[in-house]
Amino acid sequence: LARGVTEPDLAGRHVVVSAGGTREPLDPVRFLGNRSSGKQGYALARTAAARGARVTLIAANTALPDPAGVDVVQVGTAVQLREAVLKAAADADAVVMAAAVADFRPQTYATGKIKKKDGQEPDPIVLVRNPDVLAEISADRPRAGQVIVGFAAETDDVLANGRAKLRRKGCDLLVVNEVGERKTFGSEQNEAVVLGSDGSELPVPYGPKEALAETVWDQVAERLG
Ligand code: CTP
Ligand code: CA
Repeated sequence: LARGVTEPDLAGRHVVVSAGGTREPLDPVRFLGNRSSGKQGYALARTAAARGARVTLIAANTALPDPAGVDVVQVGTAVQLREAVLKAAADADAVVMAAAVADFRPQTYATGKIKKKDGQEPDPIVLVRNPDVLAEISADRPRAGQVIVGFAAETDDVLANGRAKLRRKGCDLLVVNEVGERKTFGSEQNEAVVLGSDGSELPVPYGPKEALAETVWDQVAERLG
């Protein structure tokens, strides 16, 4: 193939990608959120479309243009993201969870804006667990033979944490990156290791998020056979 020409190795496949970060509302003007920009997920959606896949992109609070030829479903919270992913995953060949899903949400939502009270300290915010979408779809595959991919940003012993998380989640592939300066959040570049449940370990050197996306799809295509 000539340079710049992508092989349509995902033609006839439906892939679901989640991107961005969920926001868990406290009141009509405030939320708990995270720093995920959605760039890695959008790169995954663009590259899958270029390789011939039908792509559903579940986008949580991103500020990026819709990739051409991709079905985009906008969501806000983790609970909404779960609904959208489960619906799209029903007939999907692969699901890639690049979104940063909030682990917790405020237990109660104040329908009116929370106001300061004279001379009083604020009430504590009580949090409850959100559903774990990746663990759920990995344990109960919406479709047989589906390839499921997670992402994890880790610190400290990055690889050991990644391997343990891959087992815990039950997914087929886990893309692990180290969180640190100039890495991951909002950046155009990424560096990662793609861990497989079969014991495979593929380092991806520091480079554009597109390059990491291509490696993820190579690994997915290999497992789809
Ligand atoms: N994930 C998910 N649902 C959640 C939390 C995470 O589907 N409620 C997915 C993310 O989209 C990501 C993967 O799980 O693909 C790993 O996320 P991460 O936050 O690293 O995993 P956690 O199990 O939440 O572990 P930690 O306590 O380190 O945050
Ligand atoms: Ca988490």
